[in-house]
Amino acid sequence: TDILLLNGPNLGILGEREPEIYGHDTLDDIVAMVREEVAAAGWQVIAVQDESEAELVRAVHRARHSTVGAIVNPAALMMAGWSLRDALASYPPPWVEVHLSNIYAREQFRHESVTAPLASGFIAGIGAYGYRLAARTLLHLAGADR
Ligand code: DQA
Repeated sequence: TDILLLNGPNLGILGEREPEIYGHDTLDDIVAMVREEVAAAGWQVIAVQDESEAELVRAVHRARHSTVGAIVNPAALMMAGWSLRDALASYPPPWVEVHLSNIYAREQFRHESVTAPLASGFIAGIGAYGYRLAARTLLHLAGADR
C-alpha cells in the first residue's frame, strides 16, 4: 500500500528557508517522519517535491489509482495553482493539505488556498508535526490504525 507525499516549490530547502517561519526540520527529516509513521501498517511513501507545478500534476496523475491517500503541501501553489487544483479534483482517494505555518496568521495573500476546499482535512501552523498528524489521519481514514 502506497501513499503520496507531495511538496511544492521551495520546500526542498526546508531547514535553511526562513527557519523562524518554517522551522529547522529538513524535507528529508519530514519524509523520514512520515515513512516511520506509516511503516507499522506496512505502508510505503512515494515522496515527490518539485519547483514546477507540471511535475506535481504528473505525480498526482501517476498516483491516482496506485495510492490510498496523499499528504499535500502545495506551498505557494496554494495561491494560484489551478492545474494542481484540477489534478487533485480528479484524485479519488482522501488527501490532507498541510502547511507548516499558520497561513491565517500571515499576509492576506496566504489566507485563501485554492486547493484546500478539495481536501479531506487541513492542518496548518504546527510545523513539521502536521505531516505526522496527516499521516495518522490517512491511516485512520483507511482503518489501518487499529
Ligand atoms: C507554506 C505556506 C505557503 O503560503 C508558502 O508559500 C510556502 C509554505 C507552509 O507550509 O506554511 O511555501 O505552504
